[in-house]
Amino acid sequence: MRIPFGTISVTEKSKILISNILETNRLSSGKYVREFEKKFAELIGVKESVAVSTGTDADALALAVLYDFGANRGDEIIVPALSFVATGNAVLQAGFIPVFVDVDRKTLNIDPAKIEEKITKRTRALMPVHLMGKPADMDSINTIAKKYSLFVIEDAAEAYGAVYKGKNVGTLGDMAAFSLYVAHIISTVEGGIIITDNNDFAEIIRSLRSHGRACKCKSCVLNKVSAYCEKRFSYSNNEDIRFMFERIGFSSKMNELEAAIGLGNLELYEEILSKRRKNLYYLIDKVEKFNPYIVSIEKDAYEEIGPHAFPIIIGEDANFTRTKLTSFMEENGIDTRTLFSSMPTQCPGFNFLGYKLGDFPNSEFIGLNGIHIGIHQDIGTEECDYVIEVIQEFLKENV
Ligand SMILES: Cc1ncc(COP(=O)(O)O)c(C=O)c1O
Repeated sequence: MRIPFGTISVTEKSKILISNILETNRLSSGKYVREFEKKFAELIGVKESVAVSTGTDADALALAVLYDFGANRGDEIIVPALSFVATGNAVLQAGFIPVFVDVDRKTLNIDPAKIEEKITKRTRALMPVHLMGKPADMDSINTIAKKYSLFVIEDAAEAYGAVYKGKNVGTLGDMAAFSLYVAHIISTVEGGIIITDNNDFAEIIRSLRSHGRACKCKSCVLNKVSAYCEKRFSYSNNEDIRFMFERIGFSSKMNELEAAIGLGNLELYEEILSKRRKNLYYLIDKVEKFNPYIVSIEKDAYEEIGPHAFPIIIGEDANFTRTKLTSFMEENGIDTRTLFSSMPTQCPGFNFLGYKLGDFPNSEFIGLNGIHIGIHQDIGTEECDYVIEVIQEFLKENV
């Protein structure tokens, strides 16, 4: 049996839209991107959403908004030490310094008890990551943010369908960033999207994704054939608003072909989500018998986990290596990925920040002992049972 890590569903609707788009030759960001944004915002239950090129850009642009609200280049953003490296990269790409906090080993998420000691006069925002779709402890995070007047930006790249105390993940802070990369529950192949209830933030993001331009209308009339924009030559001394750049921007627009894939995916969302959720909860339940050699995350009563993938962590007392386990799984057709790394101490690119191994013990432990595997919509109970059988066979020989 083969259990690939990811899959993507390209629907009939997407194929028809793509062929229409190719016929009309209107390929760059236009009406389908607007439609995707509108439907995405409705799905999560927010007022605004802005589609961009990648999930990493979604993180970076959400952060770059803060320059319009008093932040300065070189200010600090608090992030968990353990995440996909994009989280730390995005903070640096936005011109801020990431300040890392260790995670809780059981939840994989930032440990709120360790946040306050990292707050300085230069801290501007907390950026929790809902790793593997497990909601971060948002009550504690928001309480700290309020106490120190910090923004909260959720990195919800992996958290489609996650619910925290009755509220959708993505609606719990000032802004949230999702990835639309192929392995994710909603995909535009490559892509990202920022959601918020704040119209001012959304306007600024629209400017940021297009080089920091002064024009930031929700829907651009110039996208329509030979339309006239009344605002165009009314900026300042009758300058062309499209060539006035108010802030340091990015080049990060989504195109119509990507939006067409996304619109098809949105129609399948509930189906994909429920298949994946069934797989995730099934595996979480079945893997319990392998404790303490192999553990996963737990589902708390107040939450739904966004079924991104199935995380597996090798227990402290197990006397086999991760490589031995992953080699066995791969030989038996199961794709594996590591469960990321402690960005500051296990990703050499971050060495210049001066952290040292041992600074983030929980993140480093997971960085050495964690993996994740696919639970996507092309997998069902039979494949999940196979995964359990393979692990069982491995443990029989190795404990
Ligand atoms: C936690 C997290 N943040 C950010 C990203 C970046 O997304 P992208 O790959 O679309 O740039 C990812 C990617 O999957 C992620 O897992």
